Amino acid sequence: MSSFWSGWVIFFATLNIVLVVFLFIFALRVRIPVDEDGNTGHIWAHGALREGVRRLPMWWILMSIGLLVFSLIYLVLYPGLGAYEGTLGWSSTKQVEQAMERNDAKLVDLQEFVRKKPISALAEDPGVLRAAGVVYDENCAACHGAQGKGNVTLGAPDLTDDNWSWGGSDDAIRTSLLQGRRGAMPALGDALGDEGVRQITTYVYTLNGRSTSRQDLARKGAERYQQLCASCHGPQGKGNPALGAPDLTDDSWLYGGDRADIAHAIRHGRQGVMPAWEARLSAEEIEMLIAWMRAAGGDGNGAP
Ligand code: HEC
Ligand code: HEC
Repeated sequence: MSSFWSGWVIFFATLNIVLVVFLFIFALRVRIPVDEDGNTGHIWAHGALREGVRRLPMWWILMSIGLLVFSLIYLVLYPGLGAYEGTLGWSSTKQVEQAMERNDAKLVDLQEFVRKKPISALAEDPGVLRAAGVVYDENCAACHGAQGKGNVTLGAPDLTDDNWSWGGSDDAIRTSLLQGRRGAMPALGDALGDEGVRQITTYVYTLNGRSTSRQDLARKGAERYQQLCASCHGPQGKGNPALGAPDLTDDSWLYGGDRADIAHAIRHGRQGVMPAWEARLSAEEIEMLIAWMRAAGGDGNGAP
């Protein structure tokens, strides 16, 4: 604060106090002239109301003096008069800094704990899961959903089931988080034509134990599947974690498992993008998130 504005604030704050003190002295001394019956002689509402004079009640006077004294003491102890800092040296910035230091100290303990323990132990620690939940909400929920159940519009997978396109080991999941993932499913609509898409769609549809009345389509689809899809999704449709090609037999879908969804994937391809977090999250936060997914995956009830 420049000295001009500091002086400006001090001037008005002091003027205010002086005026209040003056008003006090004046109000206690002034005598309003009254008639013999104790009224001022002012008559209102055609004589129904007459104006009397009362002294200020003692409780009001004492309370006001108390408040005045309090404000004077406050202005000595705390900042309030322009740039004057107060004898206690308190400031809102310092208070925030102290609160942050206390928080950091707590965080250091948590990070230490996370570094020492294996994921399986972290997944059982309520403090770790709570902290991980906050990191999840801030960074992942927008795509993977508030409960980690995924989002078929984005192709962001359910993180609470045990199906992993890129592998479900701690290492594989850690790599997914650190480096991100890019699914690359080519568009095969032109190569296959409408009939071809229908055949393979019918076949993939039945891979999850669902039945079809068009066995002829499914049979032809199975042949074409082996030529065009097996190289990535595997001869049995079990997927390939090295390519991020999902298991097509587990009835767990990135983009939905209706015929239309499957046909869309075949015709137009799919390119889901999972961002990389190496630069944005600490190593401890990554470990906590893996623990969070482990804890969420076990009981199938969503987020812990
Ligand atoms: C911009 C949206 C987006 C955000 C934000 C995001 N993800 Fe993803 N994530 C995806 C998509 C899309 C995929 C699927 C990638 C693919 O197509 O293979 C994915 C894949 C994954 C996988 C691999 C799953 C598997 O089946 O192998 C994991 C694990 C994962 N995300 C966890 C997270 C976590 C934890 C966060 C928060 C730090 C996060 N994601 C933030 C979109 C996102
Ligand atoms: C080059 C490898 C590759 C080939 C060939 C390929 N896919 Fe894919 N497919 C992928 C990948 C990778 C994904 C995941 C895309 C993503 O994560 O966005 C995928 C996704 C899909 C999906 C969406 C799955 C879901 O969970 O929503 C379906 C359905 C699918 N493929 C079917 C097929 C069929 C049928 C063929 C053959 C016509 C085929 N794919 C050929 C790699 C391939």
